[in-house]
Amino acid sequence: MAAATRVLARNWRGSYTVPAAGLYPHQWSWDSAFIAIGLRHISPRRAQQELDTIFSAQWADGRLPQIVFNPRLDVHYSPGAAFWRSERIPGSPPVPTSGLIQPPNHALAVLLVHQADPEASARRRFLPRAYERLLAWHGYLADRRTDPSGLVHVLHPWESGMDNSPYWDAPLAAIGETFRGDIPRPDLDHADASHRPSNAEYGKYLYLAARYRDHDCDDRDAGYPFVLEDPAVNALYARSEWALGRIAELLGNDPAPHADRAHALTEALETLWAPELGCYVARDVVSGELQPYRTVSGLAPLLIPDLPHTDELLTMLESEHFGLGQAALVPSHDLTAPTFDSSRYWRGPSWFNTAWLIAEALHERGFHDEARSLASQMADLGLEHDFPEYVDPISGEPRGTLRFSWTAALSLDLYERLHGREGAAL
Ligand code: SER
Repeated sequence: MAAATRVLARNWRGSYTVPAAGLYPHQWSWDSAFIAIGLRHISPRRAQQELDTIFSAQWADGRLPQIVFNPRLDVHYSPGAAFWRSERIPGSPPVPTSGLIQPPNHALAVLLVHQADPEASARRRFLPRAYERLLAWHGYLADRRTDPSGLVHVLHPWESGMDNSPYWDAPLAAIGETFRGDIPRPDLDHADASHRPSNAEYGKYLYLAARYRDHDCDDRDAGYPFVLEDPAVNALYARSEWALGRIAELLGNDPAPHADRAHALTEALETLWAPELGCYVARDVVSGELQPYRTVSGLAPLLIPDLPHTDELLTMLESEHFGLGQAALVPSHDLTAPTFDSSRYWRGPSWFNTAWLIAEALHERGFHDEARSLASQMADLGLEHDFPEYVDPISGEPRGTLRFSWTAALSLDLYERLHGREGAAL
């Protein structure tokens, strides 16, 4: 896996890793957590640093921002630091950032990075430092983003990490407004337009981002039009609460509050279960409507240990809708749906981070052959196509950009666990 290590070296910027040199030239929050999971095999010290850097951009209210900008590169990405002007928003950190968040996979990454080299972690006091940051981060989600249902919500498609998922079609269509200014698309210099979200979607994205920014990103904007409960965000939150419980234990603290929150989230997720679709779905808090689509987000609750619908989700994964074992990796959207698009970002293509999450869940549930086959596919597709951002689930052809950091990091992680120093970990 020297090729994966080379991608991560090339995308390393001294204290963090960019997701891809051209398309995403800053630091992204959930990318960094996934990247650290791979970096731990190359250098546990660098993996810690990756996470420390995202933690150093934490806001006073505990949020970890979606993007930490390198201001010198602002011209290459939109919307950048000049759009967010975070330095004028109370509680923002000294570095320029986006005001939005991304899915909470950080506690999961911190635990794995610590376990990769507990001595190096202890020497640098990594775990206690990270624990404080994680408590504040999860506290932000609990205090500022939790609905009466018990689930957390996202306030922008970008916050889900799955920008143009069909879940957001109806909620975005219901917003009468769109962004009135220029809509720059520097992303199209680095990826084919047919692989990316549309201009109409970008109009809505910028409208929502500007409105959130103009209310000082303070989460108390009555009438804010996009409030959605997403299954993967909540599943990662629950999974990260389990990880936080383990971290608490390692530090001699009480893990019970974390287990309690994980249980409460698992119970609350039942409100997103769609029996007629055989998977979880998102709920629009504004309209109250469930969004009736099968997506990989709706399979992500498999990550939660005591989930009630495990068997149904495994059946769904192996069905014609997701084609486990037949399709390349795990499609982001139902292969049979009229809304399926094999190339366009989160409307069909298979991504390596979700394949990693599903491989992890399969492994933990004792489906070792299926987990190993997904892991080998990730390594093969990554190596063959120079670590693509995502692939066409039917042909396996690369889509989006290449030399994508989490593709390299997570393929490396599974490869190491299959063949490497950690022996039979998969
Ligand atoms: N995924 C978004 C982009 O495409 C931002 O998080 O730029």
